[in-house]
Amino acid sequence: MSYISLTTCLILCLLVPHSFGASKDDVIETLLKDVQMLKDEMELMKREQKLSKRDAEKRFVLGPNPFAEKPAFSASLTNHATNLGNYQTIIFDNVFTNDLGGYNGLTGVFTAPSNGTYFFTSTVMSHSGQYLETNICLNGQTKVLMYSYDTSFEQGANSVVLVLQAGDSVWVRHNANEGSNAYGGHWSTFSGFMI
Ligand SMILES: *[C@@H]1O[C@H](CO)[C@@H](O)[C@H](O)[C@H]1NC(C)=O
Repeated sequence: MSYISLTTCLILCLLVPHSFGASKDDVIETLLKDVQMLKDEMELMKREQKLSKRDAEKRFVLGPNPFAEKPAFSASLTNHATNLGNYQTIIFDNVFTNDLGGYNGLTGVFTAPSNGTYFFTSTVMSHSGQYLETNICLNGQTKVLMYSYDTSFEQGANSVVLVLQAGDSVWVRHNANEGSNAYGGHWSTFSGFMI
């Protein structure tokens, strides 16, 4: 409630009882009660406003959806991943979504927070005139592969549904001796979620 409406109320409270000839003490008592009630109401509103502001700030800092019930993540590659070694992890550093926090944008590894059936998909772009092979692996075991080659650019993509136990890890890695550069600039991505 604004101060203007509080003032209006006070004026009305003062005028109305007088015009009906109520006793001075009654008027003052009613006024005091009303003022106290308004004060309480304002205090409550202020507190609620402060709480919702803090909640909004917290959500902004944490990023992930605080109401998420299932793990879900999505990330892209900001810079080119160059000179990839055999089975080197491709670290999709730009994390769009990480509900329940299973994906690590510093290591590129998704670790299942709970048992369940998960869907994973990855698209990896090769540089112009170069070929590239990568794979989605589970605990270091290749599951599905991506391949791309063109005289210009090309994106290799694949998806897989895996039944995981909590703690199982899934990531995208380079194949041994098959090309060595993955294209960044958010042309290469890795996403997954519990079905
Ligand atoms: C996850 O699955 C494993 C193997 O089936 C089982 O031993 C474990 O109790 C399960 N964990 C939960 C939290 O359900």
